[in-house]
Amino acid sequence: MRRLFPVTDETAAPASDGVPGTETTNRPGTDTTDREWGLDELAEAYAYPPGQAGQAGPAGAAGPAGPQPWLRANMVATLDGAAQHDGRSQSISGAADMRIFGTLRGLADVVVVGAETVRQEGYRPARAREDFAARREAAGQGPAPAIAVVSASLDLDFSLPLFTSPLLPTLVLTGAAAAPDRIAAAEKAGARVVIAGDGMGVDPARAVRALVDLGMRRLLTEGGPRLLGQLVAAGVLDELCLTVSPMLTVGDAQRIAGGPPVAVPRKFELTSLLEEAGFLFSRYRRN
Ligand SMILES: NC(=O)c1ccc[n+]([C@@H]2O[C@H](COP(=O)([O-])OP(=O)(O)OC[C@H]3O[C@@H](n4cnc5c(N)ncnc54)[C@H](OP(=O)(O)O)[C@@H]3O)[C@@H](O)[C@H]2O)c1
Repeated sequence: MRRLFPVTDETAAPASDGVPGTETTNRPGTDTTDREWGLDELAEAYAYPPGQAGQAGPAGAAGPAGPQPWLRANMVATLDGAAQHDGRSQSISGAADMRIFGTLRGLADVVVVGAETVRQEGYRPARAREDFAARREAAGQGPAPAIAVVSASLDLDFSLPLFTSPLLPTLVLTGAAAAPDRIAAAEKAGARVVIAGDGMGVDPARAVRALVDLGMRRLLTEGGPRLLGQLVAAGVLDELCLTVSPMLTVGDAQRIAGGPPVAVPRKFELTSLLEEAGFLFSRYRRN
């Protein structure tokens, strides 16, 4: 892993004397040398912004109602823009991408995900990882993020471990018009159903507010594309962590965000770019 952006005087400076192992520039943000980054370094590099999402920040940054939530998305796409291959994203991912995937989960209060991704990818509960335990405890977080599944149909297999045996109850975000028997099935399995829309569907901004009301501010979404498209259109996405996978798949796979186009393109600015094995790991935040 090496940092390509931002490049500072420090990052551009050559290592101390060129002898392997004597570099002093081994902190994130100060290293253009290709080497394996520990999970701690990745966690630093991907920390939620200060003053947001429960992080300590400059006085006044949090506001009277507490720190602002921060919603980031983590997605992977091929060079030709495919967000999946054979219905899943595994084959376009890689080892470093999975480390960053795990790091982003390790930092989050909740992982918001569309029901189709849950069905296609066979989602399981997030696990507690020793590498993030101290950091999570210091931040007042539980041992692992909760998973929040967004669904209108509630056509989900509630007998799966995702619903029956998570560390923290899995949330099911749905609309007020959702089928009562499916709500009952979800609750019977142990899930917590949260109504975040007046009709069948979930209103993205209301979903964010509902999560904040539950004390969750470090929000992470893992898509899929149809859900992400709505989060973008609703203007609630603060950050995109996009992995560019050095592959071409052709075909007609979904892009990372789908749905009706927004009237005016949403503008984002690059805040970080890492590279490993030809994969690019970018972070863009809303302008
Ligand atoms: N490249 C990547 O990083 C990445 C990430 C994630 C997923 N993927 C891939 O993307 C594919 C799945 O993504 P997708 O876009 O088809 O589906 P998705 O966004 O994961 O899920 C769509 C489903 O979510 C529910 N949903 C979405 N918006 C809703 C709203 N406003 N209110 C209520 N429910 C809502 C609906 O569930 P119900 O049908 O239950 O009502 C809808 O059918 C898979 O192939 C997966 O591998 C790729």
